[in-house]
Amino acid sequence: MIEILQEFNIKGFQNQLVHWFEEHKRDLPWRKTKDPYRIWVSEVMLQQTRVDTVIPYYNNFIQKFPTLEDLAFAEEQQVLKAWEGLGYYSRVRNLQAAVREVAEEYGGVVPDTREEISQLKGVGPYTAGAVLSIAYNKPEHAVDGNVMRVISRILLIEDDIGKAKTRTIFERALSHMISEKKPSEFNQGLMELGALVCTPKSPGCLLCPVRDYCRAYHAGKEKSLPIKEKKAKVKIKDMVAIVIRNEKEEVLIQRRPDTGLLAKLWQFPNVEAPKETAMQQKCLREFLTDDFDIIVEIGEAVQKVEHVFSHLVWHITVYEGTLLQNQKMNGDNTRWVDANSIESYPFPVSHQKIIEKQMRR
Ligand code: ADE
Repeated sequence: MIEILQEFNIKGFQNQLVHWFEEHKRDLPWRKTKDPYRIWVSEVMLQQTRVDTVIPYYNNFIQKFPTLEDLAFAEEQQVLKAWEGLGYYSRVRNLQAAVREVAEEYGGVVPDTREEISQLKGVGPYTAGAVLSIAYNKPEHAVDGNVMRVISRILLIEDDIGKAKTRTIFERALSHMISEKKPSEFNQGLMELGALVCTPKSPGCLLCPVRDYCRAYHAGKEKSLPIKEKKAKVKIKDMVAIVIRNEKEEVLIQRRPDTGLLAKLWQFPNVEAPKETAMQQKCLREFLTDDFDIIVEIGEAVQKVEHVFSHLVWHITVYEGTLLQNQKMNGDNTRWVDANSIESYPFPVSHQKIIEKQMRR
C-alpha cells in the first residue's frame, strides 16, 4: 500500500461513494448508453465545458453522427459546424482523426486497453480512463481537475494541482482506491460528487456522503484545498475586423489556417491593430490591399467584441466596408456569402457575434 493510503478505509469509502452515486446520479444523455464511441464523445465535450452546455451539443452531435463510422467518414466542415460554439476546436479535429484510426485499424471497435486507446490522437490519461471505466467497466483511474479537487480534500493532498507531476500522485492513489466491482460507478461518483457537493468555493460538506472519510473536513481545510498556484496573466490582443459588402450585399469571409488557434474555422477579415480609430483604419486599408488585393471604402466602427480564451483575450473593433473594386475571389479560402449561406460555415464564437449583429438586421 502506498503511504498516503495508510489508515484510509478504502472499502468503506468505495461503498459510500458508489451507493450515493447510484441513488443520486443525474439523468444525463450519455448515461443512457454503454457505447464506447458515445461515451468518448461525451468525455471529450466535457473536458473543458460544463455539463449544462454540453447536453444540447451532445444530443445534436449524436443525432448527426450516431455511430463511430458516421463520424469517421463525415466531412470535416460539418463536424466543425456541429462543434461550433463549444470552443477548443482541436478536440474535435483530434476526435475525428482518432475515430478514423479506430475504423481503419481496429475494425471500428474502440480499443479496451489503456495502452492501445492512449495511442489515439487526443486521448490523454483522463479520457482513456473515463472511456475504459464507464464503457468497459475496467478499474482504470480517470483524473481531471474535478477529481483532483475531491481527492485532494479526501486525502488532504497539498501539492500544487497545476503541476503536471502532481497528477501522477492522484493516479497512483486512485488505482488503489478504485472499486474493482464497480469502476464505472466509482469514477462517475467522484465526478458527480465534484459537480454537486464537493464544489470549488463552498463545498456542501453537511450533505456529503463521504464526509466521514474526508481528511480535509476533519482538519477544517476543505475550503483551502486544492492548492493551485496563480497562473500568469492572460495576454490581450487588440484587433480590427471588417464586414465588407459587395454590390450583391454579400459579405467577404475567410478560412483560418490549417493549424493553430481555431484552425480551419471561418472569420471576417481581421488584423491586429492599436486602439486609435485612425490607426485602425490605416491598418485595415493596408491589410486589405496586401492580403486580399481589394479596394474597400472603410466606414464607421459598428461593434466591439470581447472574447476570452484560456490564455488570451481578443478585443475586436468591427468596421463596415463597401467593396469599390470588384474582384473574382471565391476560392477555397475566401468566399462572398449571403446572409443565408453564411449559416453553413463554422465560425468562432467571437465572429458569430458579428454575424448576429451585422447580418441579421
Ligand atoms: N464530467 C466529466 N465526465 C463526466 C461525466 N461522465 N458525467 C458528468 N460529468 C462529467
